[in-house]
Amino acid sequence: MTDRAGRVGNPASILVLGAGVAGMSCALAAVAEGHDVVLVTPGTLGSEHSELGGGNTALAQGGIAAALGAADSAADHCADTLAAGAGIVDPSAAELLTAEGIDAVRALLAAGFAADRDATGELSLGLEAAHRRPRIVHAGGDRTGAILHAVLAARVRGQVGAGRIEVIECCSARSLVLDGGAVTGAVLRHDDGTLAPRRADAVVLATGGYAGLYPRTSNHAGARGEGIVLAVRVGAAVADLEFVQFHPTVLAGTGELVSEAVRGDGAVLLDGAGRRFMRARHPLAELAPRDVVSREIHRVLRERDEASVWLDATGIERDRGSGTLARHFPGISAAVARSGLDWSREPIPVSPAAHYAMGGVVSDLDGRTTVPGLYAVGEVAATGVHGANRLASNSLLEGLVFGARAGRAVGADRAGDWRLRGAGARGLSGTALASMLPADSRGIGVGVGDGTGDGDGDGTGDGTDAAVAGALAAGLGIERDADGLRDAGRVFSSRPGAAATLASMIRISAESRTESRGAHQRSDHPETDPAQAARRAFRFTITDLPEAAPAAESQLLRSLSPC
Ligand code: SIN
Repeated sequence: MTDRAGRVGNPASILVLGAGVAGMSCALAAVAEGHDVVLVTPGTLGSEHSELGGGNTALAQGGIAAALGAADSAADHCADTLAAGAGIVDPSAAELLTAEGIDAVRALLAAGFAADRDATGELSLGLEAAHRRPRIVHAGGDRTGAILHAVLAARVRGQVGAGRIEVIECCSARSLVLDGGAVTGAVLRHDDGTLAPRRADAVVLATGGYAGLYPRTSNHAGARGEGIVLAVRVGAAVADLEFVQFHPTVLAGTGELVSEAVRGDGAVLLDGAGRRFMRARHPLAELAPRDVVSREIHRVLRERDEASVWLDATGIERDRGSGTLARHFPGISAAVARSGLDWSREPIPVSPAAHYAMGGVVSDLDGRTTVPGLYAVGEVAATGVHGANRLASNSLLEGLVFGARAGRAVGADRAGDWRLRGAGARGLSGTALASMLPADSRGIGVGVGDGTGDGDGDGTGDGTDAAVAGALAAGLGIERDADGLRDAGRVFSSRPGAAATLASMIRISAESRTESRGAHQRSDHPETDPAQAARRAFRFTITDLPEAAPAAESQLLRSLSPC
């Protein structure tokens, strides 16, 4: 039963943490079902060209993968997703993503997303690594994420104007509130340090990934996986944390991505001697899956004792005419120019950087986690859709598809139902966990924090921890081994803060996988082990020292009595 404003008779209140593509897609879908949404963003909601604190969404270059080409099909897109994921993609997740993704992108186009088109008005579909067909929808050349973000933000602003979405800016969640076995709200922390409790029938984590924990990263500064730590603290299972994707081509000395679409257009990789090394390593050469290309660059750099390889895009300019690079890739061209280089005339130095986290909070295809009332969508979630290595441009698609699915599910699953049926009735059932190796339970000890709770372990107050970042790069980079993992573990367990806590979980996950698969490569276990061809879930318990629990927060949590 809905009223004239489209509200259902008993609307659910939904707290969405994060305003990237997944968070906004979730919020918009929930509102369309008649529910009330509070959207919390660490950024701001501008009046025009809003970035809504866009995070990695606004930085995305390549595009959105969808089987929209005449010769393409969801089945082919699914097959490429499975192949890139190195044997552990959940087939039901990949089938759903690639099938529903077609309609999701069509709906986006209908909503005003101005994708690039060719002279005949057809979508200009790009090619990226490990896709057998051109299927990358892009906008503004390499500004796909920013344009997508602006379209979604405008729709969110429209719902703010209609009183259907409340946006809380410059704010993030400090903790989740657990009541009777279900998440019933969160304690929010504003940028000025004030804490505010919020009740909700459901909390949706759309907080992004953790590749920003690494010192060399293409991610925005906030991508530190704090949503995973929040979820673990209320007992949620996590999975796949060992799989961190390194993007092969990030401009040397910067965090500026040089999109795979540039290689899709014909750019090639050269070593310091000018040799095109990828041809000998993989039939797809520069368009081999991302983990393969990054690993090969890593090997070349180590062998040659050099800091970067070279991306030669001059052939694109030669073949397609002067100005092609600036026209197709305006954002990258500007970044290259800022580095004092001219890529239309010379190869540019690039090297891999941490780019995407396949691991996250275990969730089903509607975002349900193992804890009732808690949902996860986008990069913070681990649905199994990416396996051990995400296929290029599947991440914006993931945010669109799974974000909207969760927005529709949360209302139907509202907390009143859980209470009637008992805790656990609407948390993720055994099915999503059944295909995984048995969930392992581990404890993580946390050092004494500085009380700010900002994930900061070095007292800088900026949420980063240089020691943790350095140990991640040294022990949990493109190649790992038992000694490196142990050394990194020593650093993590000696540091306070969320970054060190999550790094410990990544390390334990990586240690448990004694094989090489996709983005997880161990020089001491170089083979892929068929017996480990499954995802692995963990239930971590975080043991804080008493000093690490700020009194003010405990007070706030107590004030949030059961609804
Ligand atoms: C890129 O444009 O190369 C990145 C796209 C992605 O991460 O999927």
